[in-house]
Amino acid sequence: MSSHTPMQLFISTKAQHGAAAMQPAAGLTPPVTPTIESDHSSVRGFTASRAVTSTPSGGHAVAASSPLLFCDQLEYQLDHLGRPKEFGRGLWSIVRMAFISPRADTIVRPFTPPSSPTPASRVVAVKSPARRDGHAVLQAEALTLTRIYSVPGSERHIIHFHGYIADSNSIVMSAVPLSLSKYIEEKAHLAEKNKTTRNMFEPVQGMAQWQDLAKKLITSLSWLHSHAMIIHGDIKPHNILLKPRMSIDDDANSTEFAYEPLFADFSSAHPITSSETAPGGAQTALTPPFTAPEILSALLASPDTPPTPGSDVFSLAVTLLAAATGDLLLYPRQRCLLMSKNGHQVIEFVQSGQNGTRVPKNGDVEKILRPAVLKNPDERINPDVWLNNFFPESNSLFQT
Ligand SMILES: Nc1ncnc2c1ncn2[C@@H]1O[C@H](COP(=O)(O)OP(=O)(O)OP(=O)(O)O)[C@@H](O)[C@H]1O
Ligand SMILES: [Mg+2]
Repeated sequence: MSSHTPMQLFISTKAQHGAAAMQPAAGLTPPVTPTIESDHSSVRGFTASRAVTSTPSGGHAVAASSPLLFCDQLEYQLDHLGRPKEFGRGLWSIVRMAFISPRADTIVRPFTPPSSPTPASRVVAVKSPARRDGHAVLQAEALTLTRIYSVPGSERHIIHFHGYIADSNSIVMSAVPLSLSKYIEEKAHLAEKNKTTRNMFEPVQGMAQWQDLAKKLITSLSWLHSHAMIIHGDIKPHNILLKPRMSIDDDANSTEFAYEPLFADFSSAHPITSSETAPGGAQTALTPPFTAPEILSALLASPDTPPTPGSDVFSLAVTLLAAATGDLLLYPRQRCLLMSKNGHQVIEFVQSGQNGTRVPKNGDVEKILRPAVLKNPDERINPDVWLNNFFPESNSLFQT
């Protein structure tokens, strides 16, 4: 875990053995959920033939009762010591590198996702449980991804989902090795090296690039809430992956953000519709300072507190604030939890800090983020309005 990684806290919203205690990530013990054992010693495997029966319907998600299954052959990539290569690790999982190649006897799937033809062999990321109580979490995440993936346009907003391997509770996704957190650290490093009295009042990647990133992420959040009808529940720079864009000019002064940001890690996601409950195993993740203050406080009183559309809006605003300043921690580590409970003051706090010049008072960054961090979640700006007010040129929301 890098020194810039914020502390994580997790509380199960589906606790099977009583309420979970709120603990720092290191050494924490989330509630144990009954799980199926999987065989991680295998570095090669292929999966079953059954697939989910949901079909795209009117641009909205269809509730799936079983996850889309992964039907192709998978070959894990090994390093020079014979260990599987890893893309990363999270609290629940290890994400490994593998190649996917269609089996000769590939079965026709009843659900055909809106994807391009499969090349003969390509690299994928396989997310597998890192601990026994991660199995139910990944199963719930696979259900959520199945649901989102049934909505047309998902490939422009979330990580491409290839399917679920039931035997090992693993999720197969397209490989996108660069996270927004890594990108922010790199840009912060460069900006510090090239700091001048002119550019020190701009976001670390420059104002035009920051605004394009903001527009893209707000568009995706709007799509997630109003089309997929899903609350992400754990938006932060570490859970956003950056896919290089194909048709971008190489000009270093280009105003276009060079990547498609994609939401990933739906282990804390919840459906928006009141008639549905989160899949069993769903978690409410807390990563101060990105978690909305009302969720932090409520979780202390009741571990069943789910995230809300307003809490996602808050988390995205703080993510964009971190992207502007280049500082992923935002608050001093020792006071992070305490200060996160007053997260509605995050802009003032950042402005008074070391990187405050990058968010000038009444400047564009503040104007765009202010309505998204209001204390009262009901008063926070709705993503559609957010987009229309600040990026009116994107008159058709979901075109890219
Ligand atoms: N599709 C992908 N391609 C490449 N790397 C990935 C991919 N998905 C995840 N990763 C890497 O693996 C890490 C862990 O993945 P993820 O955040 O989904 O796991 P998690 O156990 O749910 O984490 P958390 O601790 O945030 O709950 C990510 O931070 C990222 O670096
Ligand atoms: Mg994560």
